[in-house]
Amino acid sequence: MSNVEQIEEIREKLKKAKNVAILTGAGISQESGVPTFRGEEGLWKNYRAEELATPEAFETDPALVWQWYDWRRSLIKPLLPNPAHDALAELEKSLHKRGENFTLITQNIDGLHEKAGSKNIVELHGNIWKVRCTKCQQVTENSQVPIEILPKCTKCGALLRPHVVWFGEALETDILTKAFKASEECDLFFVIGTSSVVQPAASLAIRAKEANAFVVEINMEETPITEYTDYSLIGKAGEIMPKFL
Ligand code: OAD
Ligand code: ZN
Repeated sequence: MSNVEQIEEIREKLKKAKNVAILTGAGISQESGVPTFRGEEGLWKNYRAEELATPEAFETDPALVWQWYDWRRSLIKPLLPNPAHDALAELEKSLHKRGENFTLITQNIDGLHEKAGSKNIVELHGNIWKVRCTKCQQVTENSQVPIEILPKCTKCGALLRPHVVWFGEALETDILTKAFKASEECDLFFVIGTSSVVQPAASLAIRAKEANAFVVEINMEETPITEYTDYSLIGKAGEIMPKFL
């Protein structure tokens, strides 16, 4: 079957769907200019993300880790959602109009889905524009971090950290429960722009498939989960997603 026929069939399924779940990864933001994790541009001062995005790095040198996040924030701040983000926001609107469910699960911390107007977002790995207290755990929005003196909690005075999940850390239970539920209850599941090598996110498409959902993957290349999907569309998310509208 050609891509055109597959896209037509997916459009038909979208018209009838009662429950749609989406999983996105760094690839959906690539066309907005956000560096992907496993791509080349993700380096800062010769550190790899795996060296800085850890609780150990923050314990050893919080200033260094905050400088890195400040740099990443400055990269992301001027960026805009691309047609793939916009298409997902549109799809959500049209499903809601029909009284159906739409859940957007993302591994991205860039906030671009929200900027595009998506509403029901499950942020698996946190959000770079939020901070969390290392002691009382309070989460607050914060767009400007005073990295010279290090940011402190207004409630208890302890050090604030980025509200993101680091390597070696577990995901929040209620967030994970929401993601599992959406994947298991949907009739249509899209997995977009993720290398599907990081768990538990990578298992969501398989859960959806096991619960009889129709699973569509959109990526520049095949991934470890491609064999579990019904259709694998190879190409740029920003070019493919608008075709479903
Ligand atoms: P990766 O950088 O691992 O993978 C990006 C994927 O997007 C690759 O499979 C690319 O082929 C694909 N891709 C690139 N450009 C694309 C485009 N324009 N359209 C469609 N696909 C495109 O990023 P993630 O899978 O998101 O976790 O990485 C998962 C997690 O690994 C991240 O959330 C991060 C990291 O560890 C944490 O920080 C906790
Ligand atoms: Zn606190």
